[in-house]
Amino acid sequence: MNLSLEPEILPKAVRDFQPEWGIVLGSGLGSLVEEVDAILSVPYEEIAGLPVSTVPGHAGRFVFGRLAGRRVIVAQGRVHLYEGRTAEEVTAGVRFMDALGVKKLILTNAAGSLRADFAPGTWMMLSDHLNLTGTSPLFGVANFVDMSAAYSPGLRAHFAQLAAEEKTVLHEGVYAGLPGPQYETPAEVRMLRTLGADAVGMSTVLEAIQARALGMQVAAFSCLTNMAAGLSTGALDHGEVLATGRAAAEQLVRLLARALA
Ligand code: HPA
Repeated sequence: MNLSLEPEILPKAVRDFQPEWGIVLGSGLGSLVEEVDAILSVPYEEIAGLPVSTVPGHAGRFVFGRLAGRRVIVAQGRVHLYEGRTAEEVTAGVRFMDALGVKKLILTNAAGSLRADFAPGTWMMLSDHLNLTGTSPLFGVANFVDMSAAYSPGLRAHFAQLAAEEKTVLHEGVYAGLPGPQYETPAEVRMLRTLGADAVGMSTVLEAIQARALGMQVAAFSCLTNMAAGLSTGALDHGEVLATGRAAAEQLVRLLARALA
């Protein structure tokens, strides 16, 4: 597949916009764009080579604008491996942001909590990840990218300090990225805990790898929408994931607005 990501289709004003920050919004977190003073919104299908998501809760557009006075590009909706997409397709948006000049990338996602002390409805900032997808966006195109500080220690310290000042709960931990689309079994959840993961989801790790290969600084946040399978009673449900994400989005919006300012 040829993914040509030249941003030529964009109006010149947007090409010259030079966003400083890129923000990728996960399931149920789309409301964050309401805080952006938008100057332009571009559906993914209008950009050559950008795949379009089929998942409810993922809109599929870039919003260009300002958040806390900073120039940002927000990807509202992403595509996933479980939609039958390749690692290359899943990370096309990150390469597009890089082509526009983005140097700092914020990834968000919905995730299941693997820890009794990380309650649903709270946020976890990623300190590290386990890429358990079995793939990489770098196959055949890049080699031996250093991942020893994949999530920027400087950005993490900044966010942690602001969260403490605001008295917003912001856990830090390790995110396990699986291909999905089925939720985990209780046995898989026990395995993930043994492996050292604190949360589990179906996105983010490939984008972080791609971003690091491009030299971006990355920060990532998991909205803990539920206890992972077997850690609480009842079945997991995508509708509940979206609803919890919507309710918790506001906390992250406040934090991002302060962090960017
Ligand atoms: N597992 C995997 N992905 C998820 C979950 C989960 O429990 N919740 C939200 N995304």
